[in-house]
Amino acid sequence: MKVIVTENYEEMSKKAAEIVIGIVKNNPKAVLGLATGSSPIGMYQNMIKDHKENGTSYKDVHTVNLDEYVGLTADHDQSYAYFMRANLFNGLDIDLKNTNLPCGAASDLQAECDRYNALLENYKQDVQVLGLGSNGHIGFNEPDTPFASVTHLVDLTENTIKDNSRLFASIDEVPRQALSMGVKNIMNAKSIVMVVSGKNKAAAVKGMVKGEVTPALPASVLQLHPFVTVVCDKDAASLL
Ligand code: GLP
Repeated sequence: MKVIVTENYEEMSKKAAEIVIGIVKNNPKAVLGLATGSSPIGMYQNMIKDHKENGTSYKDVHTVNLDEYVGLTADHDQSYAYFMRANLFNGLDIDLKNTNLPCGAASDLQAECDRYNALLENYKQDVQVLGLGSNGHIGFNEPDTPFASVTHLVDLTENTIKDNSRLFASIDEVPRQALSMGVKNIMNAKSIVMVVSGKNKAAAVKGMVKGEVTPALPASVLQLHPFVTVVCDKDAASLL
C-alpha cells in the first residue's frame, strides 16, 4: 500500500485526480469505479478542469459506482445517482448510458444486487476510487462485512447514519439501508485510489495502514491488494 501525504484537501484532490486522469489517457476505454461523499468532490473538480483545459475524453469510458441508498430514485437530490451527475458526469463528455450505479429504488432489491454483480463481471475496474468511513467502511461495507461479500443490501450503522446526516435536512431523512458493492467486488479492481481527509478519519487510516487485517475494520483488507494508493491530507495521516 502506497501512502501519499499531502498538505491539505486541495493537494490531495489534485494528486488523486492526476492518477485517474493518467489511467484514462493511457486507456480511453478504461472502466472507472467511482465513489461518492465529500472526499472525492475536489478530485472530480480537477478531472472536469483537466477535461475542459486539456481535452481528456471520457466518451468511451465506462463507470461503476460503489453504492446507492435504498428508497431514493435517481432524481432525488441526495441519491448517489444525482450526486454523480452533479459533481462529475455533467462536467465531462461521458455518455450517461455508460455510467452505472445500483438502483436503490428497485422493487426487487436482491434481483438488483444480482444484476449489478453480473455487470461487474463485465466491467472490471481499471481503478476503483474509494473514500473511507470514520468507522473504516469502504463503499457501504460496514464493520464485520465478510471479505467474500459481493453486492448486497446493507443495514447502515448508527455511526454512518449520523456521519451522513449532515447532508440531509434532518437525521430522520437519512435512509437506513443501502445497496453496496461487496468487499470482493472492490478487491477485484486492478488498482485502487483512496482519498481521505480530516482528523475524524485519522484512527481509521491508522487501522487501515498499520492495523490487523480484519473485517472489523473493512478498509484493512486493502493491505492484501497489490496496487493501492492512499492519498490523504496531513490531518488524516496524523496518527501514522
Ligand atoms: C459514505 C459512502 C462512502 C464514503 C463515506 C465517506 O458512507 N458510502 O463511499 O467513502 O461515506 O464519506 P466522506 O467522504 O463524505 O467522509
